[in-house]
Amino acid sequence: MQRVGPYELEERIGAGGMADVWRARHVQWRVPVVLKVLRAELGGPDAAALRHEVCLVASLSHPGIVRVLDQGTVPQDSPLPAGAPFLVMELLTGGTLLDEVGRITWPRLRWILLRLLDALAHSHAHGVIHRDLKPSNVLRDAGGTRVVLSDVGIGGLLDEADDDQIKGTPAYMAPEQLLGSWREQGPWTDQYTLGAMAWTLATGRRPFGCGDEAMQGHVQRAPGAFVPIRPCPPGFEGWLRRLLKKPTGTDSSARPRRRQHSAPSTRRPTPRRRCRTVWGSCPRSRRR
Ligand SMILES: Nc1ncnc2c1ncn2[C@@H]1O[C@H](COP(=O)(O)OP(=O)(O)OP(=O)(O)O)[C@@H](O)[C@H]1O
Ligand SMILES: [Mg+2]
Repeated sequence: MQRVGPYELEERIGAGGMADVWRARHVQWRVPVVLKVLRAELGGPDAAALRHEVCLVASLSHPGIVRVLDQGTVPQDSPLPAGAPFLVMELLTGGTLLDEVGRITWPRLRWILLRLLDALAHSHAHGVIHRDLKPSNVLRDAGGTRVVLSDVGIGGLLDEADDDQIKGTPAYMAPEQLLGSWREQGPWTDQYTLGAMAWTLATGRRPFGCGDEAMQGHVQRAPGAFVPIRPCPPGFEGWLRRLLKKPTGTDSSARPRRRQHSAPSTRRPTPRRRCRTVWGSCPRSRRR
C-alpha cells in the first residue's frame, strides 16, 4: 500500500504543468479524495503563501467551488518526492470542461456560466481571486450536473512562486496578469478569463490563439470574428467583448465590476414584466 501520511494512493488520474493529481483514500475514514502533489519544493515564503491561500480557499463553502480538505508536505517514508507540498480535495469523477470545448449547446453553456458566475461571486466576496480560470480547471461530477471551480486562488501564486516568468496559461490570461500588474488584479481579472473561456467553449478556438500570439493579443488587440459552432443568442457576443475589454491606461475598469452587470439574467425574477437582456429575454428585476 502506497501511503502519503493518512492517505492511501490509488491511481494517478491527472498531471498538469506543476503537479500530479492522485486519486486517494483517507485510510481511517475510508473517504475518497484527490491529492494534488506539486513537483517542485517551495521555498519558505512561497510555502507560507501557499499555506495561507489554501487556508483561505478551504474556508469557502459553495457547491461550485472544489472543497479543499487538507494540505501537507510529503513525508520521508512515502513513494512520492519527500518535501513536496500537497493539497487534498474532494474527488470529482466527470472530467473537465475541456471535453465540451466547441461542442457545447447554448442552454448548457448558459447554465454553466451562471453557475460559475455564482461561484466566482462567492469567492470574490471572501477576497479570493481565482487567477487561473480555464476549461481544465472546471471539473464536473459524474452526471455533469455539478460544475466546480478547481485551483481557486493558487494558480497565479504557484506560477509566481516558480520563477519570474509568466507561466500559467496565456491563452486565457487577462492583460493585467500578463503585464504583471499585481495591483491591478481583482474580480474583473476573473471576469476577463471567464470571457476568454466562454469564447473558447462556444467557438472551439481561443480568442487570441496560444503562446506568444495570445500574450500579444490579450494585451494589444480586440478578439477577431466570433464564430460560434452552435447558435448563440445575439447579445452573447457583445457580452463576451465587454468581458474581454482591455484596461484603459493602467486601469481595468473598462470591464464590468459587478456581477449583475456581467450576467443580467441572474437577477431574481418577478412574475409580470419581462425585458430583453444581452442573453435574450429574461424576467425584469426590481433591483439594479
Ligand atoms: N478534484 C479533482 N477531482 C478529479 N480530477 C481532478 C481533480 N483535480 C484535478 N483533476 C484532474 O487532474 C488533471 C490535472 O489537474 P492540474 O490542476 O494539475 O492541471 P491542469 O489544470 O490540467 O493544468 P495546469 O497545470 O496548467 O493548471 C485535471 O485536468 C483533471 O482531469
Ligand atoms: Mg488545474
